[in-house]
Amino acid sequence: MALFLSMKITTLFILVCLVCTSFVYANFYDDFDITWGDGRGKILDNGNLLTLSLDKSSGSGFESKNEYLFAKIDMQLKLVAGNSAGTVTAYYMSSTGTNWDEIDFEFLGNLSGDPYILHTNVFTQGKGNREQQFYLWFDPTADFHTYSILWNPELILFSVDGTPIREFKNEESKGVPFPKNQPMRIHSSLWNADDWATRGGLVKTDWSQAPFTASYKNFTAEACVATSGTSTSCASGSASGNTAWLSEVLDSSDQEKIKWVQKNYMIYNYCTDSKRFPQGYPPECNMG
Ligand SMILES: *[C@@H]1O[C@H](CO)[C@@H](O)[C@H](O)[C@H]1NC(C)=O
Ligand SMILES: *[C@@H]1O[C@H](CO)[C@@H](O)[C@H](O)[C@H]1NC(C)=O
Repeated sequence: MALFLSMKITTLFILVCLVCTSFVYANFYDDFDITWGDGRGKILDNGNLLTLSLDKSSGSGFESKNEYLFAKIDMQLKLVAGNSAGTVTAYYMSSTGTNWDEIDFEFLGNLSGDPYILHTNVFTQGKGNREQQFYLWFDPTADFHTYSILWNPELILFSVDGTPIREFKNEESKGVPFPKNQPMRIHSSLWNADDWATRGGLVKTDWSQAPFTASYKNFTAEACVATSGTSTSCASGSASGNTAWLSEVLDSSDQEKIKWVQKNYMIYNYCTDSKRFPQGYPPECNMG
């Protein structure tokens, strides 16, 4: 199914670079574990579909079996429909420990007909505060849409249906830490956050609408899988030879698309929140 090339870096630090083409069939049973929710998370349809649900007693969540050190991952999500106010569907990659790294998509629900907010953040060495928020140009509850993370040594790129919406560049040269040593797992959860999610917490979850359900399908990955604890470098060779994603950067058409999204759909950007940073913006904001 997949091609493995293992490279012994040391006896303790072994990293397997696993390259799946987008044609490789992924199965939720193979790639993920339901981690909490007491039966509210389900793998269905022979492993082709995963659903999470939330009711007044609990939400639910899952995580990847693998830890990845750099990855290009696509997942199709269909979010909680109808009155989803107060609910949050989080889909993210994260390492562990007090100086963790994290790459976040969070979908903040809303009243029927009112727009979801796609909230994004990047944590490096345990420090986040890098929120950017967007409206979407479609109804994310009507159908499945693809949400992607590209994480390589040059950048972190968030994309929606193939359209890049946010780039977090490796700016270590400016003293901004970049995630590159700590393997991350993919996580997702559906939970109640009506103290802040919808209109800043003004609109509460309507439990008469429960259970709330979000659905997932068609996970694909081109990724370096860390197989024995922490690994410090990523094997760049692969038997299939297809590791272009490991050095992928934005071309001019991608840059135009990001500008289009940011101009038309971005509703919050920490890099322009002057009240929050009276002493000057964080260095990665490139505000001069
Ligand atoms: C919900 O709808 C209101 C009214 O249109 C909007 O201001 C808000 O940004 C929307 N999204 C969330 C998650 O609050
Ligand atoms: C599954 O995802 C891959 C990669 O994102 C995409 O090329 C393919 O069209 C998707 N398949 C379906 C049935 O949506």
